[in-house]
Amino acid sequence: MDARQMKIKAAEAALSHVEDGMRLGIGTGSTAEEFVRLLAEKVAGGMRIEGVPTSERTARLCLELGISLKSLDELPELDLTIDGADEVDAKLRLIKGGGGALLREKIVAAASARMIVIADETKVVDTLGAFKLPIEVNPFGLVATRKAVEKVAARLGLSGDIVVREGGDGPFMTDGGHLILDASFGRIPDPEALASALNFIPGVVEHGLFIGLASLAIIAGPNGARTLSA
Ligand code: A5P
Repeated sequence: MDARQMKIKAAEAALSHVEDGMRLGIGTGSTAEEFVRLLAEKVAGGMRIEGVPTSERTARLCLELGISLKSLDELPELDLTIDGADEVDAKLRLIKGGGGALLREKIVAAASARMIVIADETKVVDTLGAFKLPIEVNPFGLVATRKAVEKVAARLGLSGDIVVREGGDGPFMTDGGHLILDASFGRIPDPEALASALNFIPGVVEHGLFIGLASLAIIAGPNGARTLSA
């Protein structure tokens, strides 16, 4: 089974949690896109869902495939969000934001009664941090904010490059008009401590540590899908 097939397996398993009439948060990334394709088939077959996308990219794909969308302001309470992850540990703590959509992803997940993560085995880790931690920052005061992130990291015994993410033509801009710092910490032994320290830095809009949000992860491997629960 190749990487894409594993993503499809996880997405298929997640689809069985979607019920007619649900208000659904729809994630971002290549795994979430497999879910969108399968969801579109169900919708074409008569399933009614109300979807709230976590990015402009996901919104475009949903509309192309005939999934009608609402804004989070129209539907501020959701039944379920299904989204991918860059890393997931045994406590269902996640790193997200590899695709740059972490802010909307976190707002949508927090507005949902449940969040299910879909991923392949390569995303499961003992300790978060091998994947660069995305930190969404306001462009104003970028250098000061980066220094503040470095100080917080040093206080927690973390080190590594913290660089502004590049896009095709200059710095990568998020859907909210912010920049992303990618922090190569390698290992984050205490994600809760780092998350709360980052939350106190004024220029940090959001970070990619998702803690206490996911209730189930569907992990696909070569021999099928297994689940991890919180
Ligand atoms: C998007 O910002 C991310 O949080 C994605 O959910 C994450 O990067 C997983 O993406 P893939 O499914 O493409 O690996």
